[in-house]
Amino acid sequence: MANLILLGPPGAGKGTQAKRIEEKFGLTQLSTGDMLRVEVASGSDLGKQAKSIMESGGLVSDDIIIGMISGRIDQDDCKAGFILDGFPRTVPQAEALDGMLADKSISMDFVIELTVDDEAMIERICGRYTCAKCGAGYHDKFQTPEKEGVCDKCGGTEFSRRADDNEETVRSRLKAYHEQTAPIAAYYGNRGVLKGVDGMADIDAVTAQLVEIIG
Ligand code: AP5
Repeated sequence: MANLILLGPPGAGKGTQAKRIEEKFGLTQLSTGDMLRVEVASGSDLGKQAKSIMESGGLVSDDIIIGMISGRIDQDDCKAGFILDGFPRTVPQAEALDGMLADKSISMDFVIELTVDDEAMIERICGRYTCAKCGAGYHDKFQTPEKEGVCDKCGGTEFSRRADDNEETVRSRLKAYHEQTAPIAAYYGNRGVLKGVDGMADIDAVTAQLVEIIG
C-alpha cells in the first residue's frame, strides 16, 4: 500500500503513468481533471462552472477542487492506496491536502515530479486521444494501438480527443502550471519528500523509474 502524488506539467505523462502504477501496485488513480470532465459531461452545476475555465486553460477554484477530492479519498477503493494525478495544483491546495490527510490519519508516501521540456508537451498533447469506450490512452506517434483504429484493451473502434487539447490552450495550461503549480515542488522539496523522474524518457523507461521508487 502506498499513497503518492504525481507532479508535472500538462503532457508530462501523469495520467499514462498513473494507469500503469495503478495496475501494478493495486492503487486507485484520483485524477481531478477526469473528475471535472465527468461533471462537465453530466451538465451538473459544478461542470457548468468548470467548463469554460478548463477550455481556456485556467485553473478551477481551489474550493471546488478541495471539496471534490476530500470526499473521494474517503471511498473504499482508496484504502489500499491512491495516486493523486493533477492535484494539488496550487500551494493552497497542497496546504488543504496536508490538513485533510492529518484529519483522516493518512500519510503521503511519495511525491514524484516528472520533469520534461515544455515544447515537447505541445506535440504530446496535440497527438493524444483516448478510447471512447474504456478510456485507454493513445498517441498518434508515441503510443499507437497494435491494430490501427482498434483499442488494445477493449476492442473499441471509437476514439475521442479532449476539448482542451489544442496548441493555444496547451500554452495557457503550461503558463498556469509555471505560475501556480510549479511552486508546489519547492513546498515538498523543502520537506525532503520530493523525488524527480526524467519524464522525457520513453513511456516504459519512465514506468521503470517510478517502479524503482515505489518499490
Ligand atoms: P488535467 O486533466 O489534470 O490535465 P493536465 O494536468 O493538463 O494534464 P494532462 O492530462 O494534459 O497530461 P498528463 O500529464 O496526464 O499526460 P498524459 O499521460 O495524458 O486537467 C485539465 C484541466 O482541469 C486543467 O487545465 C484545469 O482547468 C482543471 N483542473 C484539473 N485539476 C485541477 C486542480 N487540481 N485545480 C484546478 N484546476 C484543475 O500524456 C500526454 C500524451 O503524451 C499521451 O498521448 C501519452 O501517450 C503521451 N506520452 C506520455 N508519456 C510519454 C513519454 N514518456 N514519451 C512520449 N509520449 C508520452
